[in-house]
Amino acid sequence: MGESLLELLQKSCPITLPMHMPGHKRNLRLAPYLNALAAQLDITEIKGFDHLHAASGILQEAMDSAAEVFGARNTFFLVNGSTVGILSAIRAVTAPGDSIIMARNCHKSVYNALALNNLRPYFIYPQTNLRYQIAASISLESVQNAIAQHQDARVLVITCPTYEGVISDLPAIVSHAHRHGLTVIVDEAHGSHLGFTPYFPKSAIAAGADIVIHSLHKTLPSLTQTALAHVRTPALASEMQRQLAVFETTSPSFLLLASIDGCVRLLRERGEELFANWEQAMEAFHQKALGLHHLRVLGYGRERGLALENVHGLEPSKVFVSTINTNISGYELAELLRNDHSTEPEMITPQGVLCMTGMGDTVETMEQLGDSLLAIDRRLRPASAVKIPLMAPQVQSKVPIATAERAPFISLPIEDSEGYVMAETIVVYPPGIPVVVPGELMNLQAIRYLLAAREAHNTILRSRSDIDGQVAVLRDA
Ligand SMILES: Cc1ncc(COP(=O)(O)O)c(C=O)c1O
Repeated sequence: MGESLLELLQKSCPITLPMHMPGHKRNLRLAPYLNALAAQLDITEIKGFDHLHAASGILQEAMDSAAEVFGARNTFFLVNGSTVGILSAIRAVTAPGDSIIMARNCHKSVYNALALNNLRPYFIYPQTNLRYQIAASISLESVQNAIAQHQDARVLVITCPTYEGVISDLPAIVSHAHRHGLTVIVDEAHGSHLGFTPYFPKSAIAAGADIVIHSLHKTLPSLTQTALAHVRTPALASEMQRQLAVFETTSPSFLLLASIDGCVRLLRERGEELFANWEQAMEAFHQKALGLHHLRVLGYGRERGLALENVHGLEPSKVFVSTINTNISGYELAELLRNDHSTEPEMITPQGVLCMTGMGDTVETMEQLGDSLLAIDRRLRPASAVKIPLMAPQVQSKVPIATAERAPFISLPIEDSEGYVMAETIVVYPPGIPVVVPGELMNLQAIRYLLAAREAHNTILRSRSDIDGQVAVLRDA
């Protein structure tokens, strides 16, 4: 037998600078409750410990306290990540067969909710930013158009912020959707730290969204899988509670629940000071980033204050380092960070690397990241030719998802699939956004994107085909 998971964790965890989730960054001085969580405390619901799905005691008090801290009407603790919050939220506000308007760059859990509830999606594509070759904001105009064209839709789902930290004009989007009677769900998985200080943008809760989902673990000091769902009305809270009882485990880990409670208490008791420290750490990084000549960092260094095409705003906890202007790719930058600087990034794309910061970061960790980037930058040259943009593709839908995902299929090599209608969802992880979904027409842009992801050894998840390098397309389309 090979080494155990525990041995691997003990060996590999401490040696790298973690520029990825979880947000506590293994900073145990910041969050002593995390150090204390161990098997001797690992219980689920036993007498005296309340019931997550019918809370009335200590768990209800803790969730009420979280609602107060986050400014929500009701808050639910989640132990299956944002994923369970998203599945439950969508089920809570739709009936089978309903239509919903959703951003095409939503996480795969939103697509799974479509399939589970037999929903008909109308997609809004985010705008694009060519300087960084990333998905930009969802425009108010695109939401207005979608609502005008699809009057049968009663629900809007969008992701804000994106993985790279791009935000959309949520106050305007939410109030327009509300004026037209839509319920708004915001997947704010990457933004549970928003709204506590002016340094970070306001949260979707403040924008009036009806249901907001937070992965606490992504940026705040809490164990992996811990998340929150916030709802705006008592009626929504009752429905959300019913759906969480369907999708979430009946054996919630009290280690995870204690971590959520600890995190909320930390925010309540020391939030101001800790957010000020985080801001200081990011500003220390900014000072370093000013010295970069070839690498560009979204929102930092010389890029700060630049008017960015199609970007409504940025939230500053994300450090997206672009290699577009250089002689290396995002994959090569990640290798240099890993091998020469013991730094593990969160996400790697052909055109850059996402380093994710969290409340557990400090001036020291952010200066270390800045110094590493400066050392790499000194060895780079400008790109010798303009790099061909490689962005998430726009594809056309031909057949409803619900029909295509169950229809007979054949498998084809990715390279030969142009013009075929997809019979499966293909997701590149991270960021976990489907590149194509069932019923969509495979095009060259999507093929190029998938081949680049494969070359970079990114994880490619397919929902139906099981032959390496092949994809499932409709047999009869
Ligand atoms: C935008 C977005 N939403 C939801 C999720 C799911 O979150 P979790 O892993 O906490 O279930 C992710 C995970 O990467 C995500 O990126």
